[in-house]
Formats: sequence, structure tokens, C-alpha cells
Amino acid sequence: MHIQNSDDPIALFQSWLAEATKTEVNDPDTMALATCSKDGKPSVRMILLKQIDKNGFKFHTNKESQKGGELAENPHAAICFHWKSLRKQVRAEGKIEIITKQEADDYFADRPYERQVGAWASQQSRPLESREHLEEKIKKLQVQYPKGTTVPRPAYWVGYRLIPQTIEFWWDNPDRLHDRLKYTKNSDENWDIQRLYP
Ligand SMILES: Cc1cc2nc3c(=O)[nH]c(=O)nc-3n(C[C@H](O)[C@H](O)[C@H](O)COP(=O)(O)O)c2cc1C
Repeated sequence: MHIQNSDDPIALFQSWLAEATKTEVNDPDTMALATCSKDGKPSVRMILLKQIDKNGFKFHTNKESQKGGELAENPHAAICFHWKSLRKQVRAEGKIEIITKQEADDYFADRPYERQVGAWASQQSRPLESREHLEEKIKKLQVQYPKGTTVPRPAYWVGYRLIPQTIEFWWDNPDRLHDRLKYTKNSDENWDIQRLYP
């Protein structure tokens, strides 16, 4: 089994994601996101991919979280998908940009009510004194923003886009002779393709 060569890694990624959507038990669109503080300490967590197109990989989160702090200090990141059912992996590395307020507003407006209120209630990644405290906050927010009314987006709930500089495709092969194709964006904004040893 070999990866079909394609000039366009975004299209190749989209085809693998579409395949994974049919075969994964859950969360085919979940990726590990690695960030790094300015003094070189890495951290990683799972996160949902919300959009992929020629501009990059988009995700949403709280900019006051640990990852948000690290992205503010050092706007570079790496992501990694692993689809067990397909025995495939994709990783990408690149610069991070924050998406426009309008784009973030549109996405937030589309979220279910419970998640909108949840975004207001959560001071993501900071200490929470008790579960009850969070539930109390949610109850108060449900009064402040009744169901059926517009819930505004908290300014800290933002979207980021990873603009890939490299994208690598890995496919399990028998005898550990895995297939690896690495795409690197060149100065003409085209992709150079290299096959790598497993
Ligand atoms: C399957 C899965 C999907 C997740 N998706 C998101 C997401 O889209 N946005 C988000 O902020 N956290 C998401 N999380 C929670 C993060 O893993 C993490 O706990 C949180 O963002 C805080 O990370 P930080 O403290 O490193 O900033 C997800 C967790 C899992 C297991």
C-alpha cells in the first residue's frame, strides 16, 4: 500500500479525513495540538479541527488558556492526527494566525446554546474551586442569557489557523516499511514533495 502522489496536500488530507469519518469510532476530526512557550517548554492536548482549506487548519479555543498563552508568546504550532482504523497519521507544522472577529462571531453564533453558555462559564485552564462553583456560574448565566436569545461571543473565545509550512503523510505498511511523504511549502508558495525513510 502506497500513498497516491498528489500535488496538493490539502486535497490529500481532505480525502484521508473523509475516509476516517466513515471508519473511526468517534472524533475523526480530533488532533493533538503542540504549542511551545517562549523559553522552549512544549505542551500538547487534543483539540477539534473545525475547518481545513488552502488557508490552513482552523480550531477554536480560549485565548486565556495555557495553549492560548503559549500561542501569544510563540505563534508556531504542530498538529498530529492518528486514525487507528486506517493506520494513518498526518502531521503539520507552521505559523499560527488568529482568525478575524467576524469569523469567530459566526462560528460562535452557530454553536449550541449549552456550549455558548459553557464558554462564558469556563476560565479554561485556570484552577476551579469546585464543580458546584461551575454549576452555579452556569445557572446565573442561563438567567443573564436566556435560551432563545442571542448569546454574545466572549472576547476570549477565539479561533486560530495553523498555516502549514510542512505536512507529512504516514501510512502503515507491512514489516514496518511505512510509507512517508513530506510536503514543504517553497518560496513560490508551491509544495516540494519528499519521500522519507520510515
Ligand atoms: C476529543 C477532544 C476534543 C477537544 N476539543 C477541544 C476544542 O476544540 N477546543 C478546546 O479548547 N478544547 C478542546 N478539548 C480540551 C483540550 O484537550 C484541553 O483540555 C483544553 O483545551 C485546555 O487545554 P490547555 O490547558 O492546554 O490550554 C478537547 C479534548 C478532547 C479529548
